Amino acid sequence: FVASLEALDDEVPVPNRVQDRRQPVTETPPATFANTPDTDPSLPGNREWGRAITHRIARSTLGDDLVAAHTVTDAETLDEIVDAAAASRWGERTGAERAAVLRRVALELERRRGDLLEVMASECGKTLDQGDPEVSEAIDFAAYYAERAEELDHIDGAVARPVRVTLVTPPWNFPVAIPTGSTIAALAAGSSVVVKPATQARRSGSLMVETLWAAGVPRDALHLVHVDEGDLGQRLVAHPAVDRLVLTGAFETAELFRSFRPDLPLLAETSGKNALVVTPKADLDLAVKDLVASAFGHAGQKCSAASLGILVGSVATSRRFREQLVDAVTSLKVGYPSDPTTQMGPLIEPAEGKLARALTQLAPGEEWLVEPRPLDADSPDGGGRLWSPGVKTGVRRGSEFHLTEYFGPVLGLMTAATLDEAITLQNEVDYGLTAGLHSFDRDEINRWLSTVQAGNLYVNRGITGAIVRRQPFGGWKKSAVGSGTKAGGPSYLLGLTDWATAPASI
Ligand code: SER
Repeated sequence: FVASLEALDDEVPVPNRVQDRRQPVTETPPATFANTPDTDPSLPGNREWGRAITHRIARSTLGDDLVAAHTVTDAETLDEIVDAAAASRWGERTGAERAAVLRRVALELERRRGDLLEVMASECGKTLDQGDPEVSEAIDFAAYYAERAEELDHIDGAVARPVRVTLVTPPWNFPVAIPTGSTIAALAAGSSVVVKPATQARRSGSLMVETLWAAGVPRDALHLVHVDEGDLGQRLVAHPAVDRLVLTGAFETAELFRSFRPDLPLLAETSGKNALVVTPKADLDLAVKDLVASAFGHAGQKCSAASLGILVGSVATSRRFREQLVDAVTSLKVGYPSDPTTQMGPLIEPAEGKLARALTQLAPGEEWLVEPRPLDADSPDGGGRLWSPGVKTGVRRGSEFHLTEYFGPVLGLMTAATLDEAITLQNEVDYGLTAGLHSFDRDEINRWLSTVQAGNLYVNRGITGAIVRRQPFGGWKKSAVGSGTKAGGPSYLLGLTDWATAPASI
């Protein structure tokens, strides 16, 4: 058995074999794409590496309110930047030449893994265990889109012409993976890029851009602008040299951008209201683990998060399920990323509006199974960011909780008599981003897979953490605006080009 495992080892090349994060990164990404491994915390060296990062986070966040200052670009400078991007000759390079640069980007991101984790933690409250897979995903985007860029040189029966400028407007909740993925996709497709990081994630966005420049992406092809929402944002979207807009954010933001310039092709991943269904045919232990991870990872601040658990038949009345869920939720350690024992970090901003309502109020029929508590009320700024996780039961069909995206650490439980009823509850929301089913019954799985309306479907695992190439990411319904192609998937780059069909051979 051991001998056969060794033989298997020889046959299957595993990239980035040296996974002690203290070692210098020298390997180049493999010529054939393979997903990058996350940091393995079972290696003592990696734990030491992680501890050093948390110390740095503590130093950069404690006792100092001003962490970084950023330039807010004025209108004339903004126009000059977009014009400079449009004048870049990046698009004249072949796909293979662009790919060579992007593979160096993958390497540079790996080299800066620790710095990226530090900035995501101190700026956006991201714990190391949540940030680490995000850096891996950014690296995957670079290596994967490099491979797709090479394909653009010889598409049978089509030509893909680079567009001038792609405007990239990422969110703060994945402050490295999403901006890197969107930017690299556009660069791989031959477009110049202007990135406007989310206002809450400017340091992360800046570090991402610096990393790409350091790896050899020309400065005239990649520009960073910091503008507040409002007139300047509208000016950017409306600039005539902007040929594509890649947005990840709220559905309403996508609609607003579209109103600024209805003819601008948009690739937008928007909101989600996602549910995980648990049937009596599930492994309940696994279901509890995955529900808790999907609901409370990054304090629920993911468009892919599980905001609803739909319990079918006897699961709804199972004492064991309920007790295990309560145990799992109440034992989550809430705190700041500077403490290495923290499992759930803070909100990006104090809870207000609909999220504050969801954390503090019950609608008719609802009860707290675990009541969320504010944990930072004593902080000098009034608090509102640090909440213990909450679970409410009795969420009713058609209620606000059933249909609204919250982006916070509160899970609602609904019940359904049958799987079909559960699917109806899932499909009644306006969004269709991720959806989960826990069941080991083949018929149930098939029925669910063929009727549930969402772009990313997960069976017997958590519903966040899509993986480049294996599970391209993107939704249906109000979870996507524009082209609707999936990030990290085979056809994403084409939407960032002007492509035309042509005779296969001339
Ligand atoms: N891609 C992320 C996930 O799958 C969300 O943006 O969780």
